[in-house]
Amino acid sequence: MTRPRLGLPDLGVGVGLRVPHYRRVFAERPPIDFVEVISENFMLGGGRPRHHLDRALESYPLVAHGVSLGIGGPDEPDATYLARLRDFAANTGTPWVSDHFCWCGAGGAHLHDLLPLPFTPELVRRVADRARRVQDAIDRPFALENTSSYLTYRSSVLAEWEFIGEIAERANIGLLFDVNNVFVTAYNHGIDPIEFVRRVPHDRIVQIHLAGHTNFGTHVIDTHGGHVIDPVWALYRLTIELAGSVSTLIEWDDDIPELEVLLAEAERARSERDRALAARQAGSTSVDDRAIAAVREAARPGTSERDAVWHGWVQGGPREAAE
Ligand SMILES: [Fe+2]
Repeated sequence: MTRPRLGLPDLGVGVGLRVPHYRRVFAERPPIDFVEVISENFMLGGGRPRHHLDRALESYPLVAHGVSLGIGGPDEPDATYLARLRDFAANTGTPWVSDHFCWCGAGGAHLHDLLPLPFTPELVRRVADRARRVQDAIDRPFALENTSSYLTYRSSVLAEWEFIGEIAERANIGLLFDVNNVFVTAYNHGIDPIEFVRRVPHDRIVQIHLAGHTNFGTHVIDTHGGHVIDPVWALYRLTIELAGSVSTLIEWDDDIPELEVLLAEAERARSERDRALAARQAGSTSVDDRAIAAVREAARPGTSERDAVWHGWVQGGPREAAE
């Protein structure tokens, strides 16, 4: 049997650390339990990024989240990248390192996007084999995140929760479970988000992501801009009721708001988490049949376009240049 969360700590509720908030976060040190940084923004070392990383490390526990491994792509993981990631993990003391179930390019070309994978047994074997080797190479627990997606493959024969669960078990790695991505993917592909949450291996979840998205009526785009919507909060509580207490992080990358708004979102996560943990303790649920029906209804796409405003989005938010 797997130890819950692979024996990794519950860090509480944190936020993704983004450039527009650096000055105030470092000066005021608001009560955040931990921060997450995008590994690639800092792992080359030196300059202003290093200075800001040091300030973050002085202030909070920090977890490292990567966006460019492309573990399911045609090419093997880059050995130089992994060596740098290992050093970065050692320097920051991150309790785990995460990336995504995706591919990002081929033949040396990097598309700077998290492209979905076909859910096949062959890919399960390939990704699991690589994930195990990545975990060895970085000398630290490794976790992979379910992505949001906008296309599926005819060759897929597994459900997404089977695909990611089987890889996590085979490779003995953790899952970074992005609950908003579950909703976005469910909406775009007609999947039941409740079943997704119920069927994923809960003992493997080492961290949870929450974010807002943009609803265009016929489809949803994972913009990380705006508040977490109520059906996603319900899915989050259901996850916590099934998994127990898990480190939870708010991601906000587009239309980044004032710090107070981000902190309030983290506090909302804390209260939703407490509510779910209380229900779990009492052997009851905070997500009753009506709430489940409401989530399923919300995840059903409309038939006409809505006037959502597209702002563009870069994973991990605005970046600073190394000097
Ligand atoms: Fe995420």
